[in-house]
Amino acid sequence: MAALHKTIYIGPFVHCATLTELDVCPNGTIGVSEDGKIAFILRDRQERQVPQGQGWEEARIVRIQDHGFFFPGFIDTHIHASQYPNAGVFGSSTLLDWLNTYTFPLESSFKHLDKAARVYNRVVARTLSHGTTTACYYATIHVPATNLLADICQSRGQRAFVGRVCMDRMSPEHYQDESTETAIRDSQACIDHVKQIDPHFDLITPIITPRFAPSCTPESLTALGHLHQRTGVPIQTHIAENKPECALVQELFPESKSYTDVYDSFGLLTPKTILAHCIYLSEEEQHLIRTRDSKVSHCPASNTALSSGTAKVRQLLDNGLTVGLGTDVSGGYTPSILAQAREALFVSRHVAMTEGSQAKLSVEEALYLATRGGAQVVGLADRIGGFEVGMDWDAQMVTLSEVSEKSDELDQGVGPVEIFGGEEWGVKIAKWVYTGDDRNTAAVWVKGRLVHSRGMFKA
Ligand code: GUN
Ligand code: FE
Repeated sequence: MAALHKTIYIGPFVHCATLTELDVCPNGTIGVSEDGKIAFILRDRQERQVPQGQGWEEARIVRIQDHGFFFPGFIDTHIHASQYPNAGVFGSSTLLDWLNTYTFPLESSFKHLDKAARVYNRVVARTLSHGTTTACYYATIHVPATNLLADICQSRGQRAFVGRVCMDRMSPEHYQDESTETAIRDSQACIDHVKQIDPHFDLITPIITPRFAPSCTPESLTALGHLHQRTGVPIQTHIAENKPECALVQELFPESKSYTDVYDSFGLLTPKTILAHCIYLSEEEQHLIRTRDSKVSHCPASNTALSSGTAKVRQLLDNGLTVGLGTDVSGGYTPSILAQAREALFVSRHVAMTEGSQAKLSVEEALYLATRGGAQVVGLADRIGGFEVGMDWDAQMVTLSEVSEKSDELDQGVGPVEIFGGEEWGVKIAKWVYTGDDRNTAAVWVKGRLVHSRGMFKA
């Protein structure tokens, strides 16, 4: 479903021009046509020249409220929808014991479709409320529940990659694929379901999802590589997240040169592959990933929560890798990509404490990873992640509280970001990144369709 009406969005807009530069347009006007695509962008309201004779006279108008701005929707390149009930629950565990203690028991309960319906409706609504217009979801091994997640994303209007998790070893017997044959059959069933509900993958795309190398037999990894070749469907998995995990991979795949080489040798390292974490990768592995043009999902909150390690994002970028952000719920404790931008900034500062100040990311860079970077990671850089004519209107309206001369009442605000008048755009944006949350996200659109709104916003 698209916008249905021509709509003109009036007010400041901000997006990432390059990795290090924001493009701020304080007096913008953006026209979005019925198909949800940006038809025109005017940069100066005073000289506004809305195209004549094409029906724009009758267009709906959406004006920025509360000292805010339009910003591209966020892209979550790695999130486990099924783990949402465990957000915030990890104790002092680390990856491999966390999987057994918290994760597999929860995921296995998705054999009950009523549970899946409750959780998946909530997680899609909640991520949308945080401005996530595109999400790369891991579901569980269950076909009906995975298909339901695809249905929910479609009906709520979130752009999504929906993956049925494949795992046929090193997991509880009651929660794993019976065989390579059933793993492929069930993965194909989920691909077929998306083809039925969204034949051109306009909004929903299936994604082949081997959980990670330790939980897949070589036979399954081989078959999943073939499934990718046959269907062209993208791939997502985990890599080099935790030291004991890396040691386990070496033990399980002794003939492989590296963890990265494991995926490469099974045909799973492709331009359509999203690799989550990438903490413990040698220069050689980074080079191989670059050569294959595979993509990286940086999950800073999760990496800190599970004390997995600090991903060296500056090094990954300098080595030419494409990087986006992932919440990795529930390794990560929050479904907010804005929070990941913040966590990425802090993790980069921890890296800088040992490796030098060049490791520090800037606010602009963190926002780039959250939008344009994510768009590149999911293969949609020409459609989402910024505001250009011809791109889809996947956007959020961010509103800011002004502490005015007339009133400094705490309940006057529209969210935690407080501006005191006269701040420059760079300051406003930094305040949003470091102190903002979903209360500042007044409205969210995907392909021009309003998919979330809060407070006083009226469409
Ligand atoms: N590695 C294998 N499975 C998982 C998972 O569910 N979450 C994270 N963070 N890492 C994993
Ligand atoms: Fe994960």
